[in-house]
Amino acid sequence: MPTKSPNRAASAAEPVPEPKPEIPLEDLPGVGATIAEKLREAGYTDLMELAVASPGDVAEAAEIGPASAQKIIGEARRRADVGQFESGTTLLARRKKLGRITTNAKSLDELLGGGVETQAITEFSGEFGSGKTQLAHQIAVDAQLPVDQGGLAGEAVYVDTESTFRPERIVDMAKGVGLDPEATLAKIHVARAYNSNHQMLLIQKAQELARERPIRLLVVDSLTAHFRAEYLGRGELAPRQQLLNKHLHELLRFGDAYNAAIVVTNQVSSRPDILFGDPTRPIGGNIVAHAATYRVYLRKSKPPRRIARLIDSPNLPEGEAVFSLTTEGIRE
Ligand code: GTP
Ligand code: MG
Repeated sequence: MPTKSPNRAASAAEPVPEPKPEIPLEDLPGVGATIAEKLREAGYTDLMELAVASPGDVAEAAEIGPASAQKIIGEARRRADVGQFESGTTLLARRKKLGRITTNAKSLDELLGGGVETQAITEFSGEFGSGKTQLAHQIAVDAQLPVDQGGLAGEAVYVDTESTFRPERIVDMAKGVGLDPEATLAKIHVARAYNSNHQMLLIQKAQELARERPIRLLVVDSLTAHFRAEYLGRGELAPRQQLLNKHLHELLRFGDAYNAAIVVTNQVSSRPDILFGDPTRPIGGNIVAHAATYRVYLRKSKPPRRIARLIDSPNLPEGEAVFSLTTEGIRE
């Protein structure tokens, strides 16, 4: 039976720091409009990126001398929110709160070490129709199940970038796990992201929501579609990767701050013109690889079956799981 009160106990009880308003680069001494523009063009969009940059790179990007670059970096370091040290004790306490959400398929849960983990990013990649969106819907439903049924008695934020969120599917899936469809829909907060900037902005909005509601899951379906569509040219790869990196780190921070699971989907690029590596690698390459804790590659099998494979996981054995896409949702 679904619990009435959201499972606050599992959530981060400590106050979550307000994200600091972003300081424009122009605020730094020695940085005028022209230099700021050059820096942004080179991918230095905020103080943090400048704070950790090398003087040589900044000098080259802004076409200034190394001494001026050093001064700008020094000032960025003073002003940027570079982060604080946390004691091992705090970290352990946080780790102890880790929760897991079932995918509704036992073998897939086992592949993931017990379900989709909070305070971590789980990426589902695969070609069209491989089941990424269906899985995202299912996990958004399952997050609401009581803990003893594989859920976290929480709510979900669903960032929909491709207009593929279907409330009807939620109704089917809620019925399939014995939840009230209306109540289930009410606990999934959906926002359509119109472009990559909007997508990133929505994560900030999600933080506001998470301060009021017990958000235990944040879905971004798809993580990469807008980025891929907007940054097409060869020369745009670097800025795209920088923004994607920023986005992923904001997602991770959300997961840590609210003890939420982050689920992202990613289409594989099937570009025959890629000369090196696997042409069916997920988009975003090593940037996503570094940020995502669990990467699951989905492929089609005999309908309605799908095969999930864990890729690049440092702490789980590689393996495969088979599940089915049915009208009631994901099934073993
Ligand atoms: P892209 O977003 O195009 O990259 O694909 P995806 O990986 O998100 O695929 P998605 O999760 O949308 O999977 C689509 C598949 O799910 C369909 O081919 C069907 O097999 C299955 N599916 C979707 N809706 C239903 C449904 O209502 N009933 C059943 N039985 N299967 C469904
Ligand atoms: Mg999809």
